[in-house]
Amino acid sequence: SSASGPLRLEDWIRDIPDFPQKGVLFRDITPLLQNPEAFRAAIDRLAAHYSGAGIQTVVGVESRGFIFAAPLAYLLGCGFVPVRKFGKLPAKTVSVEYALEYGTNIVEMHTDAIKPGERVLIVDDLLATGGTVSAAMELVEKLGGHIAGIAFLVELTYLKGRERLKGYDVFALIKY
Ligand code: PRP
Ligand code: ADE
Repeated sequence: SSASGPLRLEDWIRDIPDFPQKGVLFRDITPLLQNPEAFRAAIDRLAAHYSGAGIQTVVGVESRGFIFAAPLAYLLGCGFVPVRKFGKLPAKTVSVEYALEYGTNIVEMHTDAIKPGERVLIVDDLLATGGTVSAAMELVEKLGGHIAGIAFLVELTYLKGRERLKGYDVFALIKY
C-alpha cells in the first residue's frame, strides 16, 4: 500500500480480445507477474486467506497455476504437487480428460502424490468454465484427498465455472 491506497490487483491484468481464438477475451496475467509489488501482493493475499486452514498439500495446475501454487505452498509450509498435462509425469499416474473454453485436454497426477484424508488446496491462475479445475479435483478425490479449498487469482464469473464447484470452498482474488 501507499499514498495511493492499497494495490489493486485488477490494474495489473491486461485484456486481449480474440486470443487464442475469435470471441475469447483473454485475461493476461503477465503484467501482474512482471510487477514485483503486484505479484507479492497476490501471493501474500492468498497465503493470508489460507493461513490456519490446516492445508497439508498445495496442488498446482500446469502451467500458469504453478506460478501461484509453488510460492503459496512455500509460505504455508506445505508440499507442492503438480497436475500435469498428458505424458509429462514419469511415475505411475491417475488421469482425467476434460473440455476447455478452447479445446480438450488430459491431465495427470502421480498416484503417490496425495495420501487418503490429506487436506489439499488446489490452485490455478484463472477460473473460466471450471473444466480444468474439475479435472484436478477428480484426480485429488481419486486418490482419497480432501479438497479443503480451491483458489484462483482470477474468476470469470460470466462463464459460471463456480456452479460446477458447488459444495466446495472457492476463493478468487479478482472477479470479472
Ligand atoms: C487456462 C488457465 C486455467 C484454465 C481455465 O489454462 O490457466 O488452467 O485455462 O479454463 P477452464 O476453467 O475453462 O478450464 P490453459 O489450459 O490455457 O493452459 P496454460 O496454463 O498452460 O496456459
Ligand atoms: N483460460 C481459459 N479462458 C481464459 C481467458 N479468457 N483468459 C485467460 N486464460 C484463460
